[in-house]
Amino acid sequence: MATTPCRFGSRRDFLKAAGCLTTGALFHHRLAWAQGSKLKIGLMLPYTGTYAALGNAITNGFKLAVAERGGKLGGRELEYFTVDDESDPSKAPENTNKLVQRDKVDVLVGTVHSGVALGMVKIARETGTLLIIPNAGAAAATGELCAPNIFRTSFTNWQTGYPMGKVVADRGLKNIVTITWKYAAGEESVGGFSEGLSKAGGKVVKELWVPFPQVEFQALLTQIGSLKPDAVYTFFAGAGAVKFVKDYAAAGLKGKIPLFGSGFLTDGVLEAQGEAAHGLETTLHYGDGIETPRNKSFREAYSKAYKGEPDVYAVQGYDTGLLLAAGLEAVRGDVNKKSELVAALEKAHIDSPRGAWTLSKAHNPIQDIYLRKVVGTQNKVSGVAHKALEDPARGCSMKKT
Ligand code: PHB
Repeated sequence: MATTPCRFGSRRDFLKAAGCLTTGALFHHRLAWAQGSKLKIGLMLPYTGTYAALGNAITNGFKLAVAERGGKLGGRELEYFTVDDESDPSKAPENTNKLVQRDKVDVLVGTVHSGVALGMVKIARETGTLLIIPNAGAAAATGELCAPNIFRTSFTNWQTGYPMGKVVADRGLKNIVTITWKYAAGEESVGGFSEGLSKAGGKVVKELWVPFPQVEFQALLTQIGSLKPDAVYTFFAGAGAVKFVKDYAAAGLKGKIPLFGSGFLTDGVLEAQGEAAHGLETTLHYGDGIETPRNKSFREAYSKAYKGEPDVYAVQGYDTGLLLAAGLEAVRGDVNKKSELVAALEKAHIDSPRGAWTLSKAHNPIQDIYLRKVVGTQNKVSGVAHKALEDPARGCSMKKT
């Protein structure tokens, strides 16, 4: 509909004014309607494959935060549009476009796998759709591809690897072999670890790689046995982490060559890993035994709602709900107020089960990284490996909208 300019003066203008008022009233009616309508949330996560459990935990955590707000964010009810991304980067642009172009979602939430997340980042940059990443740690999302409409509530792969380098070197373990999947998450986790390790006087003597999502570790474990490093550092997650930890023990390496990792190695998988995981030490921005009232109440609410224990992925999904709530409350549900929404998201203080956090200029959490040890079926926090760690956000220059 053509709009009538609202200038008054002559009789003709007066007549025009009638149209102007009608249009204005319509506009307000439309706005009210738009705000009263449901807010469309596009959940793009893995619901099948190696990372399926991670996608489900994120979804549960997000929905718990919404349920705690009476099912509304910024006064608006939500409508969910869900896509299983299968952790397949080659399908990422098409899957993201289904949500953005076909379903016309207001907000994109996703995903777990770094390669898939970078596909989402590309579309979010092209279309200006608000994207909140609830897991994938790809550096570029809050580095060289950072943008005003892209936020992350989880971590960078560097952030969870870097502190472990110092922990390991400080124990006199200097010659380290790394083993991980050959894609951004593994590469950047090992990169961060190696940076922390060399600063503290150690070095990576051999890097071993496995294509994602393969879990054939036998030949490489034999190689580790003959290399006899002081310790091994690894990134695996989900079903791959279960298999790796069990295979490491079955190969007779556990107890001989200490195994360390980013905390994804033992998060959400301890029941399945059983004995093989006992005593493993990892670094992560969450731990089961964080003894704060905030964490306790979250854990109780989560177990009541879903009949299972929450893990780091559930916390990240929950925090995504908290961040979005903070933004939408500031604009009373009006996602069209883009710069106000972005400003509110940027200055949010998230009272998370992991501990309070805020966002860096590049839109990634500044947060404590805990040292944890597997005791029974818990990742018990034994200390803080790095206080308020901020990702260096290499290559990020944030262009304001
Ligand atoms: C990633 O691909 O960035 C990734 C996947 C699973 C994790 C952590 C990072 O647990």
